[in-house]
Amino acid sequence: MNVVVVGGGGREHTLAWALLRSPQVTEVVCIPGNGGTANLPRCRNLTLAETDFAGIARCALETPAELVVIGPELPLAAGLTDYLQARGIKVFGPCQAGAQIEASKAWAKQLMVEAGIPTAQARVFTAAEPALAYLRTQPVPIVIKADGLAAGKGVTVAHSRQEADQAVLDSFAGKFGDAGHQVVIEEFMSGQEASVLAITDGQTIRPLLPAQDHKAIGEGDTGPNTGGMGAYAPTPVVTPELLEQIQRQVLDPAIATFRRRGIDYRGILYAGLMISPTGEPRVVEFNCRFGDPETQAVLPLLKTPLDQVMLACIEGRLQSFPPLEWYAGAAACVVLAAAGYPGSYPQGMAITGLDQASAGGALVFQAGTEAEAHRTLTRGGRVLGVTGLGEDLATALATAYSAIAAIHFDHMYYRRDIGHRVL
Ligand code: AMP
Ligand code: GLY
Repeated sequence: MNVVVVGGGGREHTLAWALLRSPQVTEVVCIPGNGGTANLPRCRNLTLAETDFAGIARCALETPAELVVIGPELPLAAGLTDYLQARGIKVFGPCQAGAQIEASKAWAKQLMVEAGIPTAQARVFTAAEPALAYLRTQPVPIVIKADGLAAGKGVTVAHSRQEADQAVLDSFAGKFGDAGHQVVIEEFMSGQEASVLAITDGQTIRPLLPAQDHKAIGEGDTGPNTGGMGAYAPTPVVTPELLEQIQRQVLDPAIATFRRRGIDYRGILYAGLMISPTGEPRVVEFNCRFGDPETQAVLPLLKTPLDQVMLACIEGRLQSFPPLEWYAGAAACVVLAAAGYPGSYPQGMAITGLDQASAGGALVFQAGTEAEAHRTLTRGGRVLGVTGLGEDLATALATAYSAIAAIHFDHMYYRRDIGHRVL
């Protein structure tokens, strides 16, 4: 069968690669894709915007594609799934109503409260004055969140009252556009973060291998937050017992609450968790999609054909689908970025050493890149994700870092401490 993958980041290169590992998948069309998907055998790019609903539907029908997989949150929140389904196309990714779990932090918080899911105490504000008054009654640190989609930039962990006030004022002044006209102020949670991505058909929900991301740009988790600078799986922070607790306290209640609200949620539900110092999981946020770069660490370990489990979700057969099978060992992905990211950064630099890096056994997933006839150029802040596999995390990391030594582009930056919390 043929598959369309919507998106053009490292996650989508990984999705295309993982789908093509399945004996059932003949060809993948990436919309718009990147330099990595352009050069992947049996994969091609189609230059259309992720939100060009009519163009994506036409591509799916003409290819023809048996399955469309939507990577990013924007088209999901804009209702691409609903649009394609109405035209008889099978889609992996939740409907617009379900995508609100990521598109509105206030909506997500209400769902968590209704479902009894452990999370930080929070209040929602639609104007600056009452928000500032509330802040005067709260201790710091405290967390200020723009309600809507802000490309990972809408959250401030404020360590002083002044910083908290400023975040509220900035948000209502339009720093995040419409996304910031509603603000969630929430209790600070301490602990270790973990990402549990789970796959669901709206009735049954099953976790993938638990992962950990590195959000901050700087080593030692310092500096501004990014989309993610590296990830590994499985993380020992989430033990099998803890994963069962997360299933009971987070995943099952979330799906039951969607159902109670009449929302048929099928696709990935990504729980961003804070594991407290005493080992209790609480939800930081939910996403309605695969994580980036968690996907680059999790999917290389998946032995079950990805297309088959996705079809089982779309067709409501997850309960009778065999348990997911995984390769033994660990995977670690290190992100190579253009210096300056998450602020402004240069583009158009030539990338060298990609073949040599792959020859050593690492998987090089491309993100912000563009393929030209004989070279690959940078086209984004996060440029590559280099995944190493190994019998344990230390070996996986060594494979990734030794592959990175072969890669070069001007202004290349990466963290040298991925995995530091576990090693
Ligand atoms: P979010 O977009 O909600 O995941 O927030 C981005 C990042 O901000 C998270 O990955 C955490 O590192 C941090 N964060 C968000 N909410 C909290 C909280 N209540 N307590 C502590 N850190 C938080
Ligand atoms: N890596 C974090 C995210 O995908 O939201």
